[in-house]
Amino acid sequence: MSGRAPAGLFISFEGIDGCGKSTQSRMLAEKFPDALRTREPGGSAGAEEIRALLLTGDPDRWSAETELLLFTAARRDHLEKTIQPALDAGRTVICDRFADSTRVYQGATRGDLRGTVDTLHTAMIGREPDLTFIIDMDPAEALSRGLARKSGEDRFEDMGLAFQETLRHGFLALAKANPDRCVLIDGNRDPAAVAAEITAHATDRMAAA
Ligand code: TYD
Repeated sequence: MSGRAPAGLFISFEGIDGCGKSTQSRMLAEKFPDALRTREPGGSAGAEEIRALLLTGDPDRWSAETELLLFTAARRDHLEKTIQPALDAGRTVICDRFADSTRVYQGATRGDLRGTVDTLHTAMIGREPDLTFIIDMDPAEALSRGLARKSGEDRFEDMGLAFQETLRHGFLALAKANPDRCVLIDGNRDPAAVAAEITAHATDRMAAA
């Protein structure tokens, strides 16, 4: 026995823009005060700098390939500096977006880059969350919420409704392909009801770990 704490549970939240996942990850973190709440792109000093490059400016600023490299660089830094140290210390990590966002946003929306996304993920990241909540939401409703926020980081929201429809199908396909890791959550409901369902799943998973 090494005497080290057992690794913490790595939980991610995914879904289209404006689906409510940030609210939901915050509500889950409130239930588990010892958990570390973080987000992508970002979550470490270097990755937050890359975030600004990715989320502001012209929607055509980067090609899909360049974008993929930037998101992967940000994720590698986030994993090294923030996520892995917390898990090693036995903390639960609640992360707003992780590699599934890259699979869907960069892998399936502007040509089929999924093979490249998977190759890069294996080479540079090499791990998945233990549990992923995919919040499903009507894109028209989600888009109106997202733009209403006017965060100044609206580059992806600015790509429009058809783009969000494609994303939604990408997330639904991921949920279907990864039933052990992913839990599909109906986000078209009162946030408190959504949160109760998510908390119940997370509590079960922690008890089983
Ligand atoms: P986020 O800050 O979660 O925005 P929102 O709360 O509106 O969902 O994510 C920022 C944007 O970055 C979002 O539009 C999704 C996009 N994104 C990718 O395209 N690929 C990725 O790998 C990640 C992590 C995010």
